[in-house]
Amino acid sequence: MNCTIKLSIGDEIGKIDRRLFGSFIEHLGRAVYGGIYEPDHPSADKNGFRGDVLEVVKELKVPVIRYPGGNFVSGYNWEDGTGDKALRPRKMELAWQAVETNQVGIDEFQEWARLADSEVMMAVNLGTRGADEARQLVEYCNGTADTYYADMRRKNGFEKPFGIKLWCLGNEMDGAWQICAQTPYEYARKACEAAKVMKWTDDSIELVACGSSNSGSPTFGVWEETVLRECYDHIDYLSLHNYYGNRDGDSASYLGSSLDMDGFIKKVTAICDKIKAEKNSEKQINLSFDEWNVWYHSNEGDKEIPKWTVAPPQLEDIYNLEDALVVGTLLITLIKNCDRVKIGCLAQLVNVIAPIMTENGGRVWKQTIFYPYGHALKYARGTALKIETEVGSYTAGGKEIPFIEAASVYNEEEKEINVFAVNRSMEEECRLDTDFGAGTELIRHLTVTGDDLKAENSADICRVTEEEVKITENVLLPKQSWNVLTYKIR
Ligand code: AHR
Repeated sequence: MNCTIKLSIGDEIGKIDRRLFGSFIEHLGRAVYGGIYEPDHPSADKNGFRGDVLEVVKELKVPVIRYPGGNFVSGYNWEDGTGDKALRPRKMELAWQAVETNQVGIDEFQEWARLADSEVMMAVNLGTRGADEARQLVEYCNGTADTYYADMRRKNGFEKPFGIKLWCLGNEMDGAWQICAQTPYEYARKACEAAKVMKWTDDSIELVACGSSNSGSPTFGVWEETVLRECYDHIDYLSLHNYYGNRDGDSASYLGSSLDMDGFIKKVTAICDKIKAEKNSEKQINLSFDEWNVWYHSNEGDKEIPKWTVAPPQLEDIYNLEDALVVGTLLITLIKNCDRVKIGCLAQLVNVIAPIMTENGGRVWKQTIFYPYGHALKYARGTALKIETEVGSYTAGGKEIPFIEAASVYNEEEKEINVFAVNRSMEEECRLDTDFGAGTELIRHLTVTGDDLKAENSADICRVTEEEVKITENVLLPKQSWNVLTYKIR
């Protein structure tokens, strides 16, 4: 098979916001307890943070991490996770039916994020709570005056404000599973009033309103329009969430998952622009794809987990090669839509549908999806270029799916073009020809591939990892592979 990629420096999609490759840590399963925090672990620091986990997170250089939920946030009282740890309440956590000890809260998480060199993207509870508690949390985190909640933060040992810039107005409030789910209009009004008082508390913050919880939500479209009509002047971004999975064992169709993500982004963008026109507004609402990943392996097993335990092993999907390829195509789709998608969060970061896994008291290890995610973080820096991909396609799941999915990013500082490409073919390698309209030299070719689409990693063995391909005259993308090709501009 052959594929020709055409692009030209100057023919741009847009600048990539670093926050496009963010992640997410929720108080769910072993993400926090046993993940980033485990005071008895041999590598734990004085605050109880696992040093071995922090090291791997730092290797990724994750720009922004959403916290503390997720479904968890819709029943969360943020004050429970502040101040003297000995006095913090143990609570029934209804979203995931577990016990929350509150030994980690915003006091600790913002410190951990600082150690990880990441910004916090903070979600407020618009389920059981509302505007009042949301504005109090903004004051606690960012307040500079001599006022009650800013003083509460100071008494808890934090003189300097946390300076949290990015805030989510609740989580998936359209979903029936959400604690205190709402109709489009109920949420739109609540979010609008919360947004106003949060910005009046700190006018430097940016706000993300909830869009639909997935591309197939029954209220999709109506939800977005209603929220935008009510909140337009007070918000900066609208959220999208979606998870993918090979539920019916059809790999050919599963490998085409990114077509759905692309369509979802295009539709939400069109709705944002429709409301912009309707309001005769100059302001553009951008998108925050703040939950995306593969999530399906753990669904059945999770039903067996007993309720009301601390940090049960929930949502611990073990990923294989085909999941890494799908994650690769989803990253490519975010890059190709970076003119409107400014924020993205791979959900999640540690143990819960995550690239990084831990053993309680033991080792840390990297899942298959760690590699494409790490590559995007490292190499997708700069300006996304428009790309023309001439290649054949196949039909699966009623869709026409191109064999190659590709995106390119121009790094002006390094004078390099990085091409990201997934070969979806399970049979054939692909010879890649390029037409960049400029002199370039291929200086590096990284790939993630293998013969077995179902190959997984574990704490003991790393079957799926990155390999450096020897550069020869012909550039070959192996069958079923993720690739990063770096071209130096001469
Ligand atoms: O990331 C896991 C869960 O998926 C989140 O809590 C929720 O927002 C979504 O449904």
